[in-house]
Amino acid sequence: MSEVFTKSMARNIYYGGSVFFIFLFLALTFDTSGKTPERDNHEAITAQVALGKQVWEENNCIGCHTLLGEGAYFAPELGNVYKRFGNSTDAIVGFIKSRPVEGVAGRRSMPQFHLSDEQLEAVAAFLKYVSEIDTAGWPPNIQG
Ligand code: HEC
Repeated sequence: MSEVFTKSMARNIYYGGSVFFIFLFLALTFDTSGKTPERDNHEAITAQVALGKQVWEENNCIGCHTLLGEGAYFAPELGNVYKRFGNSTDAIVGFIKSRPVEGVAGRRSMPQFHLSDEQLEAVAAFLKYVSEIDTAGWPPNIQG
């Protein structure tokens, strides 16, 4: 092997490396975009789930919470709250209804939103739907 590292060797490594990683990047991008539609359970988007998403947006839940990592870091991740609450939409409804719980030292409190029963059921159904999206195991633990 030559002891001298020539300019053309450096150029070959530069171009060869670039081409290799561009192809790797493209292959992984096509692989991911091919799989994404199967991972989202579209059939589960009922009228109630759609209403729940509307309730979610109109009340700016994401202003405090993250949903699958997106959002604010003031309050718990809610992408898996349905599982955390023992696979129960009733527990989610009960939690939202019973806010605020104030005066617990070191604990942040969530405001009361005065949602109707229909809106509460819907936002819980939306959170159930989100928990069933195949996120390849994210969030990594049940606490979110
Ligand atoms: C002003 C900030 C704020 C907004 C806006 C907000 N939350 Fe919260 N939420 C909190 C905080 C803080 C907690 C944790 C409170 C606690 O445990 O007592 C919480 C907890 C929760 C929990 C329980 C999470 C867990 O793991 O214990 C659920 C479910 C929830 N919120 C749903 C919602 C929904 C749905 C909305 C929109 C309608 C919403 N939140 C809007 C602050 C907020």
